[in-house]
Amino acid sequence: MKDQLTTPKSEIILTGDRATGPLHVGHFIGSLKQRVTLQTQHEQTILVADMQGLTDNATNPSKVSSNILNVVADYLAVGIDPKLTTICLQSQLPALAELTMYYSNLVTISRLERNPTVKSEIQSKGFERSIPAGFLTYPISQAADITAFRASLIPVGDDQLPMIEQCNEVARKVNSLAGKEILTECRPLLSHAPRLPSTDGKSKMSKSMGNTINLGASEKEITKAVKSMYTDPNHLRVEDPGNIEGNVVFTYLDAFHPDTQYVEELKQHYQRGGLGDGTTKKVLEECLQETLRPIREKRAMYLADKEQLIEVLRTGSERSREKTAKVLHDVKGVFGLNLF
Ligand code: TRP
Repeated sequence: MKDQLTTPKSEIILTGDRATGPLHVGHFIGSLKQRVTLQTQHEQTILVADMQGLTDNATNPSKVSSNILNVVADYLAVGIDPKLTTICLQSQLPALAELTMYYSNLVTISRLERNPTVKSEIQSKGFERSIPAGFLTYPISQAADITAFRASLIPVGDDQLPMIEQCNEVARKVNSLAGKEILTECRPLLSHAPRLPSTDGKSKMSKSMGNTINLGASEKEITKAVKSMYTDPNHLRVEDPGNIEGNVVFTYLDAFHPDTQYVEELKQHYQRGGLGDGTTKKVLEECLQETLRPIREKRAMYLADKEQLIEVLRTGSERSREKTAKVLHDVKGVFGLNLF
């Protein structure tokens, strides 16, 4: 078969994930499904961002190292095909770290402190006055990731929009220093899928809060997660009318159930009264079990052959090394540092 990566495709796409935990249903709905489609239409690279993962886990590095292959297995299990998508490892691309050093001279500390996503992360992680320099500057390293691939389209969640903006600021500064277009500016591609709430309906999904459903969740874990899902707290008796807004079971049904007509009928019945949470949860549970079973099985199969997963990363990283080195060469040239 012809190498599909050599067929011209319309845009260069780069996405990435911090390797700080296995991926969950939120990733699946919000980005993984979209990547499976995009890989057939564009030149797509996915970066396993292990170095960015370290920016807030350097004293507990196994949180990153132990999850790299989990994340790759998650990708393959949902249908991301390494023949169509380049999957590479950030720490294996030295050009990214070098570019970060050069770009650091073009970004002020106060600009970094103004990045709204970084700001809220600093708060939620409790860094206060002891912010790791690597953490504060990760938007610069992300600008290196994006520009090094000459990516034009970045599929991200809305929390990542400030990173895209900062990346383009860097690209414009480099281009203006160079007096020509050395780096490509990019645009975000937001997913149409609304953000999936955590199972408790309150906070962001996080493993430590126990409010996620991982792609590798066992049948029992799925059952337990659905049973504990947040619904309408005022819906006390089956015959009472229930509220579907903020009702996590319905949000998940919208995201996962293939029969939208049926979900619509369930919603109306629930709002009218006469439909119990036990019933809606049963419907959701069956549908989640069906969706996640094949993913869990494939994931386990891939994880049973770690060498193969490493090979996927090695091949993707090797393919990306030359490309990113070329951009580094160009940027060094802008600063007059290409003597030899
Ligand atoms: N910051 C992204 C996240 O937390 C991960 C990431 C790293 C990324 N480098 C990237 C995303 C480049 C898009 C492009 O999920």
